[in-house]
Parts: sequence; C-alpha cells; structure tokens
Amino acid sequence: MNIEVRYCSKTKFGNTRRIAEAIADGIGVKAVSIADEPKLTAKADILFLGGAPYANIMAPELKEYAEALDPNAVSEIVLFTTSNWSRRTVLALKKILRGKGITVRDDYFYAHMLNIDGRIEAAKEFGKKFAK
Ligand SMILES: Cc1cc2nc3c(=O)[nH]c(=O)nc-3n(C[C@H](O)[C@H](O)[C@H](O)COP(=O)(O)O)c2cc1C
Repeated sequence: MNIEVRYCSKTKFGNTRRIAEAIADGIGVKAVSIADEPKLTAKADILFLGGAPYANIMAPELKEYAEALDPNAVSEIVLFTTSNWSRRTVLALKKILRGKGITVRDDYFYAHMLNIDGRIEAAKEFGKKFAK
C-alpha cells in the first residue's frame, strides 16, 4: 500500500509542516511540501493532505493542488489542518475533492497553532493507524 503525505505550510513556524512530519513519522514515510513536489509521482492508496487558513481561506496553491489532483491517482484522502480557530480548510478541501469524485474520510486531524508541540504525539498516532 502506498501512502503519501503532502502539505502546504506558509508561516515561519511551519505548523502544518510539523504536523505533516509527525503524521508521516507515524506511518513511516516522508512528508513532502506541495511547493517541492507540485504533482503526485506515484498512485497513492491514501493521500494525507493538509493546509491552514490565511485570512479565512486556504493558500491559493493548495486550492490549485486540490483542483488539479487526478482522481485516478489517489484512492482515498485523509485531511489535516492547523489554525487559530477555523476548520474551514478541511471543509473547503472536502468540497473540492468530493466534487471531483475522490473519497475523503470524514475524520481529520486538527492542531491549534499554539499547541503544535502538544499535538505531535497524537499526530504520530493518527498516522500510525494507517501504517502497514
Ligand atoms: C496572515 C495570516 C492569516 C491567518 N488567518 C487565519 C484565519 O482566518 N483563521 C484561522 O483560524 N487562523 C488564521 N491564521 C492562523 C494560521 O492558520 C495558523 O497559524 C496555521 O497554523 C499556519 O500554518 P503554517 O505555519 O503551516 O503556515 C492566520 C495566520 C496568518 C499568518
């Protein structure tokens, strides 16, 4: 089973990157920024995809990534997000991805931006559930 972790992280704190890395660590794979790899290079059985809201909307590059995602390149998506209060990124990604016919799990991982340290272990466990 091929599991991929992709994220979009914009602030100097790298909150979403840190959560992505913890999830990936739990799975036993590497987290990759969509800035470094704008397209999946192999079919993913599960794609973990995460981002954050900035002034109420996700980063445009994450929206573009989701919109351009080939439904044949991924069997299922699991979302994660970090923010100050909003879960909007998850809702917006679900809408885009499900609109393309891609299966997105209802459950997702959330970490508050001021409690990233406190959520690292939980993120690892979240990823571990999907490990081989
Ligand atoms: C310019 C800016 C705008 C933000 N707007 C929101 C927002 O509208 N709602 C929210 O819940 N968090 C907001 N945040 C908080 C970020 O979503 C949060 O810090 C997130 O963890 C950033 O992830 P990153 O470090 O991976 O970029 C904002 C942060 C910045 C820097």
